[in-house]
Amino acid sequence: MDSTPHQEQGIQPGSDTDVAISIPSMEAYYAFCKEAEEDYEGFWERYARQLLHWTQPFTKVLNESDAPFYKWFEDGKLNASYNCLDRHLLNGNADKIAIRFESDRGEVTHCSYRELHAQVCRFANGLKSLGLKKGDRAVIYMPMSVEGVVAMQACARLGIMHSVVFAGFSAKSLHERLVDVEAKVVITADEQMRGGRILPVKAIVDEALGLADSQTVENVIVYRRTGGDIAWTPGRDRWMDEVSIGQPDSCPAEPVSAEHPLFVLYTSGSTGKPKGVQHSTAGYLLWALMTMRWTFDLKPDDVFWCTADIGWVTGHTYIAYGPLIAGATQVMYEGVPSYPNSGRFWDIIQSHKVSIFYTAPTAIRSLIKSSEADGQIHPRQYDLSSLRLLGSVGEPINPEAWRWYHKHVGKERCPIVDTFWQTETGGHMITPLPVTTPLVPGSCMLPLPGIMAAVVDEAGHEVPNGQAGLLVITRPWPSLARTIWRDPERFRTSYFPQALGGKLYLAGDGCVRDKETGYFTITGRVDDVLNVSGHRMGSTEIESALVANSLVAEAAVVGRPDAVTGEAICAFVVLKGPRPGAEDAARIAAELSSWVGREIGPIAKPKDIRFGDNLPKTRSGKIMRRLLRSLAEGKEITQDTSALENPAILEQLKSTK
Ligand code: WT7
Repeated sequence: MDSTPHQEQGIQPGSDTDVAISIPSMEAYYAFCKEAEEDYEGFWERYARQLLHWTQPFTKVLNESDAPFYKWFEDGKLNASYNCLDRHLLNGNADKIAIRFESDRGEVTHCSYRELHAQVCRFANGLKSLGLKKGDRAVIYMPMSVEGVVAMQACARLGIMHSVVFAGFSAKSLHERLVDVEAKVVITADEQMRGGRILPVKAIVDEALGLADSQTVENVIVYRRTGGDIAWTPGRDRWMDEVSIGQPDSCPAEPVSAEHPLFVLYTSGSTGKPKGVQHSTAGYLLWALMTMRWTFDLKPDDVFWCTADIGWVTGHTYIAYGPLIAGATQVMYEGVPSYPNSGRFWDIIQSHKVSIFYTAPTAIRSLIKSSEADGQIHPRQYDLSSLRLLGSVGEPINPEAWRWYHKHVGKERCPIVDTFWQTETGGHMITPLPVTTPLVPGSCMLPLPGIMAAVVDEAGHEVPNGQAGLLVITRPWPSLARTIWRDPERFRTSYFPQALGGKLYLAGDGCVRDKETGYFTITGRVDDVLNVSGHRMGSTEIESALVANSLVAEAAVVGRPDAVTGEAICAFVVLKGPRPGAEDAARIAAELSSWVGREIGPIAKPKDIRFGDNLPKTRSGKIMRRLLRSLAEGKEITQDTSALENPAILEQLKSTK
């Protein structure tokens, strides 16, 4: 068969001029940027028409009339699952491997695009038979599994909005989310396997559903992962395989509007409860595909592996949607990097011949640490010659970790793409391009074509290169989140604040551009959001969890630098009773830590809890967080403390003991 490179990668060339699917040089990069600047809508229109399969082509590109609630391609219709699966069956890629799955214990299974399509269709038909339909909402609370992707794709196929909740969140967090989206169905697993251990999953769903206000849930569908004993509610609970069995292998993909909500994903903000970040169908999908091509320079024979969990946005865009719409072969791994030993990642790269490896700095740092210990496992013991490109995501990568990754994993021949983006941006925003941009450790380099990034001051005015400021995006782009579920006002005030004029998208990160080159370096969050192991946590969320404990009168939470997790959570606590002595302090700290684990999830547990008679406050009663940050870090207080009502408190809070 005569196949062009486009067909091999699953793209049907359209009738108009071909759009670029890779950026081969810096000249090309600047030419694309110029194209986007000169005709912004035309730029996006060309890609959207050519890269997505539409059941009804759009006639409008961007609607800004209700800013910041932008709409893209709004009168077009399409289906996300059709774009991810069916298109590959039609262009000769049906038997290409879509997913190679490796379990915690090392068993490997794989499925082709044809098989994945059939599995998604059967499950979608099963969901239909339970009465689920377009516009309904599903919560997915599942471990890393092909079935997790099947659940997401089946929802997308029917126009059901999904909300995946990371299976490490507590019953209470899960409950909050399923009440907020008014889920009609929860898709889960009996148990999960991680690091050689079996952990409960369905039991947490049962607990969440036992809490008040969760009556919208009619069914719980359970993927049988371990076959372990679980409680069962007849009539409500069903096994996933039984829902699918006997269902036809095909299921019409429901055409939805380009703006139809594909999913909501909860993420932490600087205040209040987690925000339900809602994404659209077409704009999100388009950028998932474009960034797979541009950032990862994806080729037909690549084996792509993103180590994220499907519970985070990285697992949505670069596991459940991006690699599939791009027609790639990807590896999915169930477990943790350290099991059965810290060579597991290298072993997977070697045995699956991974060519593109995408992971988080925290994983790299933990593997550096274990490889440096005497007699420990080191990447040099593995054949990593299949690698051609490395990626980093989730937090700033420190230059030492960057160099180690570059030297020992990439053998100094693989470029590293340090991709800056967020749950709200849907896909990569600022990143080096693997084949073009020179690499600078620790810098995300340049915004992708079509992304208009700038660094501004507190009034929204651009600052000169070399000067630190706030990172903003000055024009809406297709994969920008559409709103915060059930709270559009919060969307407006959080991301398009009046202080900056109401038109700039505020990322919440500090940034500085290089004086000569203009390259962007992200300096970290400028709000009270912590980044622990690449996971976003709001300090107020943890504070609320702490004060919900009957022993606690008041709490303040800050981040402090940590060699492995990037930031660690440090909590300053005032008890209702007297300040505990050393022995009691250790016991109460342990109790509070597991309390936070139950309230939010283990990832939110403070690493350091200190007790005081009070917290450092100004005379008007405001907690002085910058002083707490210095205390958490163990730094001498050099700041001005004259506003402090109770300076003596600083001594008390200096150390854990
Ligand atoms: C926050 C977004 C990106 C998907 C996973 C996390 C930080 C993310 C980088 C990077 C420096 C980064 C930012 C951002 N961040 N990537 N390459 N360099 N910082 O998504 O949970 O929405 O968190 O992660 O602070 O605002 P998220």
